[in-house]
Amino acid sequence: MNTELSPIDKAKFVAARRAADLVEEGMRVGLGTGSTAAWMVRCLAERVREEGLRFRGVPTSRRTAELARDLGIDVITLDEARWLDLTIDGADEFDPDLNLIKGGGGALLQEKIVATASDQMVVITDAAKEVEHLGAFPLPVEIIPFGWPTTQALIEELLVSMDVMGRKSALRMNGDRAYVTDEGNHILDLHLSRIGNARQLAMVLNQIPGVVENGLFIDICDQVIIGYGDGRVETRDINEGTVSEDRVDFVEDANLFQDI
Ligand code: 5RP
Repeated sequence: MNTELSPIDKAKFVAARRAADLVEEGMRVGLGTGSTAAWMVRCLAERVREEGLRFRGVPTSRRTAELARDLGIDVITLDEARWLDLTIDGADEFDPDLNLIKGGGGALLQEKIVATASDQMVVITDAAKEVEHLGAFPLPVEIIPFGWPTTQALIEELLVSMDVMGRKSALRMNGDRAYVTDEGNHILDLHLSRIGNARQLAMVLNQIPGVVENGLFIDICDQVIIGYGDGRVETRDINEGTVSEDRVDFVEDANLFQDI
């Protein structure tokens, strides 16, 4: 078993471990999707095993549901939970206002619904995802398969009047087929380079009939926990700025790393 993690994985891990400490007995917790969120699920499962922590998790994708169940977390649906105390998820980019681009892992729709249904959303990330302006990461937009080329054309036309630097879009592929989300939709990745007005773009994209949802998370995230490869963690709060800077001890734990 090789448990040697790259600095980026260590950064994701320490952010995830710090966020997992926010979960309290009896909470209903949204469980994000992606490699950073997977660390958080492992850290929570460790707390269940070692401390007897009881909480219920609402996964944001089939992948996360499977991982959480396999690790012994009590999984419920959003229909059952209705409202959540906390959601912890990764992101592809975050800006100084803690607005996000999400959906690199294809789960933006459930992620946005779950985060919006939570008292608090905490994002866990490494420092490389911090940007001054969103848009270097291609913006994922979930669209229905029916007439998707028409939806793509409408989006590209809309972008002409938006404050963005690029306008190309590409249908996300899975091998030689279009990628299909958990809801049976496709994803268009918009190569915008820089988004001048993310709030406006988020609103107008959703006016196009074939668009289901876009990966801009505006005014949804409350805190970002940034991990570093040397174990440092920084917590930024939407109201209070940087609220803590400390260190998470990095002990390579066979239980956590066994499936790496
Ligand atoms: C999935 C997401 C992920 O949170 C985002 O892509 C970050 O992933 P990772 O933690 O693997 O870097 O939005 O839809």
